[in-house]
Amino acid sequence: MASEVSYPLQLSSVSESHASLYEESLKHPEQFWGDLASRRLRWTKKFDQVMDCDMRTGQFKWFLGGVINVSVNCLDRHVEENADKPAFIWEKDEPGTHEVISYGQLLESTCRIANVLKREGVKKGDRVAIYMPASPLLAATMLACARIGAIHSVVFAGFSAESLMNRINDASASVVVTADEAVRGGKTIPLKSIVDEAVGGCQCVQRVLVSRRTGAHVPMTPRDLQLEQAMSEVSDSCAPEPLDSEDPLFMLYTSGSTGKPKGILHTQAGYLLYASITQQYVFDYRPGDVYACVADIGWITGHSYVVYGPLCNGATTVLFETHPTYPDPGRYWEMVQRLKVTHFYTAPTAIRMLIRKGDEWVKKYDRSSLRILGCVGEPLNKEAWKWYNTVVGEERCTIVDTYWQTETGGITIAPRPAADDSQPKPGFPSLPFFGILPQLRSENDEVITESNVQGHLCITKPWPGMARTIYGNHQNFMDVYYNPHPGVYFTGDGALRDENGLYRITGRVDDIIMSKGHRIGTAELECAMNTEPRVAETAVVGYPHEIYGEGIYAFVILKDGVVASVETIAEDLKTIVRKKIASFALPNQFLIVPGLPKTRSGKIMRRILRKIAADRHEELGDVSTLADPSVVEKIVQEHNLLK
Ligand code: WT7
Repeated sequence: MASEVSYPLQLSSVSESHASLYEESLKHPEQFWGDLASRRLRWTKKFDQVMDCDMRTGQFKWFLGGVINVSVNCLDRHVEENADKPAFIWEKDEPGTHEVISYGQLLESTCRIANVLKREGVKKGDRVAIYMPASPLLAATMLACARIGAIHSVVFAGFSAESLMNRINDASASVVVTADEAVRGGKTIPLKSIVDEAVGGCQCVQRVLVSRRTGAHVPMTPRDLQLEQAMSEVSDSCAPEPLDSEDPLFMLYTSGSTGKPKGILHTQAGYLLYASITQQYVFDYRPGDVYACVADIGWITGHSYVVYGPLCNGATTVLFETHPTYPDPGRYWEMVQRLKVTHFYTAPTAIRMLIRKGDEWVKKYDRSSLRILGCVGEPLNKEAWKWYNTVVGEERCTIVDTYWQTETGGITIAPRPAADDSQPKPGFPSLPFFGILPQLRSENDEVITESNVQGHLCITKPWPGMARTIYGNHQNFMDVYYNPHPGVYFTGDGALRDENGLYRITGRVDDIIMSKGHRIGTAELECAMNTEPRVAETAVVGYPHEIYGEGIYAFVILKDGVVASVETIAEDLKTIVRKKIASFALPNQFLIVPGLPKTRSGKIMRRILRKIAADRHEELGDVSTLADPSVVEKIVQEHNLLK
């Protein structure tokens, strides 16, 4: 498609006012995105239609007819210009240490891994599960999948064997790529043995590729292959597979409000374009900057803002393997000083944790290189905003509170520091990004037009980075995202808009808890805990927590005749959660209760439990419609005893 209008979307004009570009993006989406896609991406064959999207049926296609390869866009074209340019700075767990990996080196390892995968029979469309520590090799494995058209499914290396097994099976992955061990905060995590346990329950897996991180001796079976050894046996070049714009790029599992985690599916061109343009425009990334998103690659933040977005832009991006308090709470800032980081992107929970450790850990180090301070994952409360701005940023930097989700592929609401009409407001991610048209709806699906009224946050126009489906379950995709408010995308979050049109996120309105930046499905957690033999039923809710954002509160009913202390039950339930899900999902509080507030049809009234957990007993409201209203008083009594 030939675009007649030329948009001023080059680096030099990044300061163009947000309002005018935004307006264009909504008025002429085809020209806007078409022009960007032609100019920013390298195509094997140019697309012939920009979009074909229908929010009622959930069919989304971008850049139809286009043929592209994501790894070429992230690697080859930068290598042609300067193979020595640093792609990654790998901030290793070992204090004070980092390694620089150039675009040339990254392309070479990507090609070698791609050739290993091909040799092992992986073809276009096959799924590859990745369970690795944050390392350039992990990124190269993702890019190797992209090179040959395999679909990667990265599983965060903090998930248990059982979680990993479920994800491998759901995706029916034929190959798993892992490492001997991970190392974080000086402690090792036995990744290979976790994979062994997981793969024991997976018929689909034919090969496990094991890379070296610590060099620990790990038992190998005939199914396993040492990755670096295999890489040395194959060629260092690999022709990129020509892929359709809409071929899947990756899936990433995320918790929902019901049942099992779902594999959110993203495709090639639209995702890449959206990740790259947001990385440049939201963060005002300029050539030569050192961009540090310290999220783990196992989450969408790492996919879009450690790997795909920055690499597509030819940026230098930091890969953070360690922990913010290892060896001490100065780690982030010591790194900022050593690597001359210009952009720092973290989660509010980390900021709140560091506030507690004292300002001296920050002030000890030279942070004059910093320009932009970002955060994502939960609401950034005003106190944390202020600390980030004054103590870390010395009131010199811009705070970008970015709102988005695994499903949105990239940032959807955020300030645009470079634009002259973007003024950050504490507690407000603020402005919708290009192409994003938010709408607030009431529970009854009425559009909210008033200012400062909370509603369900929806997005009414398609954007290139939007998820295409839930792997293997399009009906579920529709039920969760498009059927609640027909014709628009429903985020699952509550939000309000101020009189200037700036957005503030108020938190999830479904049964998802955002704790320490992690997304935890209550149903998944309850299902796991209900397998404890002495437990009859459980209900978990989030409650305000000073550091975690939300803490997890578990109400537990024991089976008739069981006598046990809350401490022993809590220990056993924690063991189960660690085994079935991950340690980041452990509840922070347990309470044994005689019953749960349920409607006459048997539905748990979580609203009531949330108020109790938050110590807002006076706001319980009308409980007379409950099957047994007296249970509420009993739970409140037990809760008060606990304090
Ligand atoms: C949920 C998505 C996108 C990467 C991190 C998490 C919450 C995200 C913000 C923010 C308030 C936020 C929402 C959202 N969230 N950013 N700036 N302010 N809440 O990705 O695991 O898919 O979780 O994180 O509740 O729905 P995720």
